[in-house]
Amino acid sequence: MNTIQIHDKQFEPFITYATIDETITRIAEQLNTDFKGKTPLFLVILNGSFMFAADLLKKVNIPCEISFVKLSSYSGTQSTTQVRELIGFNEEVKGRSVIILEDIIDTGITMEKILERLNDMGSAEVKVATLLFKPSAFQKEFTIDYIGIQIPNDFIVGFGLDYNGLGRNTKDIYKIVEPKLKKSC
Ligand code: IMP
Ligand code: MG
Repeated sequence: MNTIQIHDKQFEPFITYATIDETITRIAEQLNTDFKGKTPLFLVILNGSFMFAADLLKKVNIPCEISFVKLSSYSGTQSTTQVRELIGFNEEVKGRSVIILEDIIDTGITMEKILERLNDMGSAEVKVATLLFKPSAFQKEFTIDYIGIQIPNDFIVGFGLDYNGLGRNTKDIYKIVEPKLKKSC
């Protein structure tokens, strides 16, 4: 794997697809055990989670429904406190066991908003599954039930995650290369 350029930034190889695949298999096995006998509704948070969801759901073997919500909270490489709802929730979540599928939890602001909405709409049970988690950026209190890989607070792209719209379509995950500080004499 080589370094890639997206817009004005360089990204270096960080997590291989082999590791991502093993991680997703582990989460799917946990879900198959924990939701045995139930028919949960998987709520996929677009855009970033589409690859995670597609891989995970092929390994989920319990009866389930799948639905999609589109939100956006990022501008460039910084998380913002503004969460725009682009495609809303509907009544289907009422009374259901809902499993939210998220690509990455960073500050937790986006997920907290989603959890509030599901609670308002009367979901019976809500669990959170995220492929990636940045513990040092997390500012919230809610429980993350299924965590794939914990990563440092670096900006990453690939496997669904983007930098200003580009970089979603790689199998592996890449990490931003911070410019090295030049020592002055
Ligand atoms: P939060 O609200 O700060 O937790 O951010 C959640 C959303 O920001 C995620 O669903 C991603 O879409 C996006 N995000 C967070 N960290 C990264 C990153 O390192 N690369 C690309 N997108 C990210
Ligand atoms: Mg996302």
